[in-house]
Amino acid sequence: MAIQIVQGDITKASVDAIVNAANPTMLGGGGVDGAIHRAAGPELLAACREVPVINGVRCPFGEARITTAGNLPAKFVIHTAGPIYSQSEEPERVLASSYRNAMRLALENGCQSIAFPAISCGVYGYPLREAAEIAIDVCSESDFQQLEKSFYLFSDDIVNVWRQVMSQKG
Ligand code: APR
Repeated sequence: MAIQIVQGDITKASVDAIVNAANPTMLGGGGVDGAIHRAAGPELLAACREVPVINGVRCPFGEARITTAGNLPAKFVIHTAGPIYSQSEEPERVLASSYRNAMRLALENGCQSIAFPAISCGVYGYPLREAAEIAIDVCSESDFQQLEKSFYLFSDDIVNVWRQVMSQKG
């Protein structure tokens, strides 16, 4: 299944699951997290609060949690905490794990389509090219080939990097 690149707002994506670049508390934030919560409405935060807190967090870095999607066109929101680049000992492994765990959850919940933002590429400071390489490699893994995958990217520079990496990988 080819991977689509869309320049736009992920809250508008009409897919089964949109992925949220969250933090381990799963109580909202800025960036795409803030946009998703604003568009979904208070039901999303209520659904996040239902996710059990284990060792002080709802979603450890590199893991993913699924909730309902409130007013969004998507059926589910899959929250993942990507690595904070400057603080993570193995940012590549954690970022790959965020993408992989999000897709695993999507498949476990019967999703046929999933939309990703550029996880960790904002506040969490991941270098764009390295993040794009990891995102596209993991999304190309055979376990996930039946999922219709799209990246909803917000800025020209990120779209350009993702497109370059996609074309280099053929
Ligand atoms: N649709 C798609 N992409 C978006 C949107 C949107 N509506 N809003 C922002 N983005 C882009 C940003 O421009 C960036 O390229 O999403 C990418 C991820 O950036 P962040 O949202 O800052 O996420 P991240 O770098 O993973 O940092 C996560 O930020 O918002 C807090 O609670 C969140 O603590 C967590 C941290």
